[in-house]
Amino acid sequence: MRLFSPAKINLFLKILGKRGDGYHEIASLFQAVDLGDWITFTPAQEDRLTCTDSTLCCDSTNLVYKALTLFRRESDFKGLLSIHLEKHIPQEAGLGGGSSNAATTLYALNCLAKSPFTHEELIELGSQLGSDVPFFFSRGAAYCTGRGEKVFSLPIPYPMKNFWLVKPVEGLSTPKIYHTLRLNERVPNAINDLEEPAFALLPSLKTLKENLLSQGFEAVFLTGSGTAFVCVGNTIPVVAPDIKLFSLKSIVREEKEWYKT
Ligand code: C5P
Repeated sequence: MRLFSPAKINLFLKILGKRGDGYHEIASLFQAVDLGDWITFTPAQEDRLTCTDSTLCCDSTNLVYKALTLFRRESDFKGLLSIHLEKHIPQEAGLGGGSSNAATTLYALNCLAKSPFTHEELIELGSQLGSDVPFFFSRGAAYCTGRGEKVFSLPIPYPMKNFWLVKPVEGLSTPKIYHTLRLNERVPNAINDLEEPAFALLPSLKTLKENLLSQGFEAVFLTGSGTAFVCVGNTIPVVAPDIKLFSLKSIVREEKEWYKT
């Protein structure tokens, strides 16, 4: 079984406050995009996770492995699997790559195990693995609240024309960004409230945003906790050679199907 595991972008992300459990209450519009990884699940003599990206840990800390362990613990599925991850989603980018991989793995295992879990139960399992995991069980466009795990599917994808993704070499870790966030320093008209803490940790990001805005885009904003920027407009971003550039399209999945490109 080979499944597409899409990235997401946040078309807006507002932080509403800090909760007693240490998480932040958010309000965000999530959209799945056609940039994504591919994951292959093959019956095997023993469990094995491999990846095309040698910088990614393939041990028990990988969210794919965590999803497999959680699924086994909660079901009587005993099948052993060789899982191969073909990585295209940049890491530490705010694109939800690990969360998407976890959701895709839960979906695949549920198919292979002949559906022991309902859709709602899969979402609940996903929320145990990370705040962004449940979104990937939506149809591709959703308004998300709570710590991000409360997902309200929207009927149509956001009409994305002329969207670009710009990913600088440097990455940022999500917990570090939330730790740096100062709630009383939020900017009222910010598309993404996590931009300010990202700029505080990595000032070169602010310079990159200013550079992109000077190229005439209608909007330039960070996705999630960064470091990837979404650029909206009719021009093609001109960036330094070490900066990755992707053209993006929104994707949706049909009811009872997984995402396709
Ligand atoms: O849920 P997830 O494991 O992806 O979150 C990683 C970290 O990001 C959390 O431990 C927390 O520090 C921070 N976070 C947060 N508020 C959210 C989501 C994540 O503070 N809504």
